[in-house]
Amino acid sequence: MARIIDGKAHAAALREEAGRRARRMLELTGVQPGLSVVIVGDDPASRLYVKNKGEQAAAAGFRSETHTLPETISQDELLDLVARLNLDPAVHGILVQLPLPAHMDAQAVLAAIDPAKDVDGFHVINAGRLAVGLPALVPCTPLGCLRLLKAELDQLKGLEAVVVGRSNIVGKPMAQLLLQADCTVTIAHSRTRDLPQVCRRADILVAAVGRAEMIRGDWIKPGATVIDVGINRVPSRDPAKAAEGKTRVVGDVAFDEAVEVAGAITPVPGGVGPMTIACLLDNTLTAAARILE
Ligand code: GUN
Repeated sequence: MARIIDGKAHAAALREEAGRRARRMLELTGVQPGLSVVIVGDDPASRLYVKNKGEQAAAAGFRSETHTLPETISQDELLDLVARLNLDPAVHGILVQLPLPAHMDAQAVLAAIDPAKDVDGFHVINAGRLAVGLPALVPCTPLGCLRLLKAELDQLKGLEAVVVGRSNIVGKPMAQLLLQADCTVTIAHSRTRDLPQVCRRADILVAAVGRAEMIRGDWIKPGATVIDVGINRVPSRDPAKAAEGKTRVVGDVAFDEAVEVAGAITPVPGGVGPMTIACLLDNTLTAAARILE
């Protein structure tokens, strides 16, 4: 049976460390790390994420503010807010929650964020800096995955890593981080031929496809370390509850099968998820220390 990687415990430790670093920064320099989160519209899932981000930042002793804008706001009004936050010396990190309403061009909004304050690491400057190995603000989810891998494995050097998924938010930056850690990296995706066989090569398998339980137990090399980034809602196991519309959350990996084969695996929930906000705090501290200047 695989070891279960406790993302909640790792995230709690990282949040405590962020709190200590924030206090030390305030004492030594008078600077309180500040995070500004912007949300447009009232999608309940996004609202909940944003609430958690704000609360955890405040709990770690950061200056935390949330700008909640109506769905009907124009892109220019959003860009005006971003421009103000870029200039605000008390704001070190800016995060615009995605997705944005359909009438907005998300790339244009992300491009307007000062790269030095881009704690999501979504700006092309940060993506490019990561790709060429310069100091960069790196997307929080892959950063969280890397931390779990480093805690779990003595050495990443030389290991075969397969990343399933090629998004700008997870798959691509994850592959860059693993490459920097001297893994041999394959990026697989929905068009990959014989995906099960590609996955079987992996000493490290990162699943970030957004398809419930797609990766089966017999796709996994015995002893591999499996990081499941997926957060998928599926009907409850109990048919009566499912009939009432009750759901449960599962990953991209069929956990019950994979746990029999893998050496270590992250659960969903309680694996990668909690690490993401903890890494956002870490990135905000990095931004407050102004690494890009
Ligand atoms: N929506 C879902 N995940 C994220 C994230 O990591 N950052 C932002 N800005 N929006 C998201």
